[in-house]
Amino acid sequence: MTKKKCDLFIDKEPYSFEVEGDFFWGKEELLFKQEDNVISKMPWYNDGYAVVNAFVKEEFQALKQSITNCIIEAIKANNIEFNEAEFTLNNYHKVINTDELHQKVIHITKNLENTDFDFDIDELASRFSKILGYKLTSWIEELQKTHVQIRISRPSSLDINPPHRDGYLSYWEDIINVWIPIEGCNENSSLPLYPGSHLIHENNILRTESKGAKINGNTYYVPCILETKEGPIHMERPNPKEGEAILFSPYLIHGAGVNKNKDVTRVSLELRFPKINL
Ligand SMILES: [Fe+2]
Repeated sequence: MTKKKCDLFIDKEPYSFEVEGDFFWGKEELLFKQEDNVISKMPWYNDGYAVVNAFVKEEFQALKQSITNCIIEAIKANNIEFNEAEFTLNNYHKVINTDELHQKVIHITKNLENTDFDFDIDELASRFSKILGYKLTSWIEELQKTHVQIRISRPSSLDINPPHRDGYLSYWEDIINVWIPIEGCNENSSLPLYPGSHLIHENNILRTESKGAKINGNTYYVPCILETKEGPIHMERPNPKEGEAILFSPYLIHGAGVNKNKDVTRVSLELRFPKINL
């Protein structure tokens, strides 16, 4: 394991943090499949992502309520004392005020299934199918379950994963990634993406293995991408509004979503829908 500095830009502002891991350059190959890809029919194919309309107002409110309930359940499951009636997502960090408590809560919220929500996740899969022109499912065959993740990022914290591609994990190779802002998502906190980076070949990427990167003492499932031969990693925050979602390729480099808000917890929802190959 070596300690290296990961330097990148988010909306032109430089960031740097330490990552621990074993780093290597990949083979001369492009993992992003160019033919019949889930984003092949999209005009944003070369960008690798787009912001799309996902919900009407009432649906968004219902989804947000369902996510709030999930987080309340996760807090209760850890026997943490709090005032349930007054709990709101933006003030999460005032209730969960240590790293240790936060790790306990996200241990639950990062690994949920469709059935944990009073919201029809499959309906969302069919909505995004219509946009992409490919059939999608919420069922992950390799994991034999559905997978839904609530991502919680406290203000002024290192609650971030490293820059990465989900597609390095075999069960996320042929999916569409969906990122949905729920609370506290704005120009200071929204998910950063590296436009066009799904087209970078592996021999131009320095990265770790899966579960091989540590930031701030936390090991991440996804490999960390430290640098590329295409120059500095320039990320952008598309900053979708309430009711919108970002759709993006699992090979698009993303992450490092530092929450620069002073006193607001950021909550977002991550969905991954495999493409059904007929
Ligand atoms: Fe990811």
